[in-house]
Amino acid sequence: MILPVTLYGNPLLRKIAKPIDKNHEGLNNLIDNMYETMYQADGVGLAAPQVGLSIRIFVIDASPMAEEEPELADFKKVFINPQITDRQGEPWEMEEGCLSLPKINEKVSRHEQVTITYRDLDWNEHTETYNGFAARVIMHEYDHLEGKLFVDHVSPLRRKLLKSKLNAIAKGKVTTAYRVKLQL
Ligand code: NI
Repeated sequence: MILPVTLYGNPLLRKIAKPIDKNHEGLNNLIDNMYETMYQADGVGLAAPQVGLSIRIFVIDASPMAEEEPELADFKKVFINPQITDRQGEPWEMEEGCLSLPKINEKVSRHEQVTITYRDLDWNEHTETYNGFAARVIMHEYDHLEGKLFVDHVSPLRRKLLKSKLNAIAKGKVTTAYRVKLQL
């Protein structure tokens, strides 16, 4: 089932998301719905707060980027109760976007490498280190669980220039090719 995407301005996107229990009701179904929603919107990542749930889950499928970045070919993964334990390496800039901030793209500087501990759907714990684009997507999605958005990382000047666009999104004055949840 395709879920409506929460837009900028919704206070839920600013909350710190809570960990879930092993027996969280409907977890498999939720993950399926998050993937379906992400694919329909042409995203490479989606965090639970973006579908209206303040819980610590995000999904990533970066395989569409494999043409430019071959190591991403198999990068499809669910991260449950993730914790970033380390960020390393030289920060680098790349333009990012977000389904919750339609039609906004800004360069964001992030570390080259990230180490993350999380649970998979079978509740096995993993600790893994990612580099480059994979690390960037993980940090972007992880930010959503911490109540942060990629525009928080841009310079105050850029932020000022974005203000009217951001206000328009918060008022629902934006058109998207995917379902969104307007803030009432
Ligand atoms: Ni995002």
